[in-house]
Amino acid sequence: MKQKIALIGFGTVGQGFVSILKSHQKQLVQKYGLNTSIVAVTDKLKGSAYLPEGLDIDQLLDLVAKGDSLNNYSKGETGWSVEKTILRSEADIVCELTYTNIETGQPSADYCRQALSTGKHVVTSNKGPVALHYKELSELANSNNVHFLFEGTVMSGTPVLNLVRNELAGNEITKIQGVLNGTTNYILTQMEQGQAYELALKTAQELGYAEADPSADVNGLDSLAKVTILANTLMGQDLKPNEIPCTGITQVQPSDIQSAQADSMRWKLIGSIIRDSSGVSASVAPTKIALDHPLAGISGVNNAITFTTQLTGDVTIVGPGAGKEATGFSILTDILEIHRNIGGLIY
Ligand code: HSE
Repeated sequence: MKQKIALIGFGTVGQGFVSILKSHQKQLVQKYGLNTSIVAVTDKLKGSAYLPEGLDIDQLLDLVAKGDSLNNYSKGETGWSVEKTILRSEADIVCELTYTNIETGQPSADYCRQALSTGKHVVTSNKGPVALHYKELSELANSNNVHFLFEGTVMSGTPVLNLVRNELAGNEITKIQGVLNGTTNYILTQMEQGQAYELALKTAQELGYAEADPSADVNGLDSLAKVTILANTLMGQDLKPNEIPCTGITQVQPSDIQSAQADSMRWKLIGSIIRDSSGVSASVAPTKIALDHPLAGISGVNNAITFTTQLTGDVTIVGPGAGKEATGFSILTDILEIHRNIGGLIY
């Protein structure tokens, strides 16, 4: 049976994801029994295409590479709205890949609600709906007997959320501390090498690391969304982003970086969540850490999280925190998780 997929949003993540589907198609079928078909793609700026027997990935990528509209797709129907795509495409899985709005979570939250309430699994890399509405959306998914998965919202394709939920189940987490934003970590790393802030930010945008509005990265809001997601999904909290103190990197000056270097220290934008006898506290702030700190060696677009656990002490995971292919892979991860759960498969 084919998993029919509809994509809402066809930017960096959507294009990264379909490229992986294309290049790994044979392996996915042979090794995991995962047979997929992209039945619909819709994007507010790039148009939309629908073909029940499955769209041709090369043609989709060619159209957007040429700056042409998806409405010019050669077969099927075009010009569908997001709502029509969710309701009429008969997709099993809706991948919600629109840009994050950390303040409202919209329009993504409504797209997720619509898909879940009509019995479709939802996979998203959009931090807004998860940071703001995780409890409601996961309950909606449960009551409709479908999955709501969002591995790509934290550390892109580096396994974090599914890993903790599955492999660390039963092992209580008392503290989470991490470098959670690829753009700011890239900028701080480049600044240590003498590059100007503006040039480092521009390159991070060109490399597809930054948010559509990069102020969300440099002001710490992207890390804030991730801290909220980690606290709520892995530590049982119901925090709102505006309840968590947050400072970004815009006030970190080249002179601060140099003086830290002279003291064998380094600036990192650190997100943390700590459980103690008085409850759970969370924060995002630039922090000067010693070079022998486990997070000091995390450079460039890499991110890392150290989970302090009750039964296995500190568990650290390091890997890319952003990027087209890495985030595209996170979507595949969640689809494989759905496929495995539906089929009761082990591999
Ligand atoms: N803008 C984000 C980052 C993308 O730089 O980490 C991944 O969430």
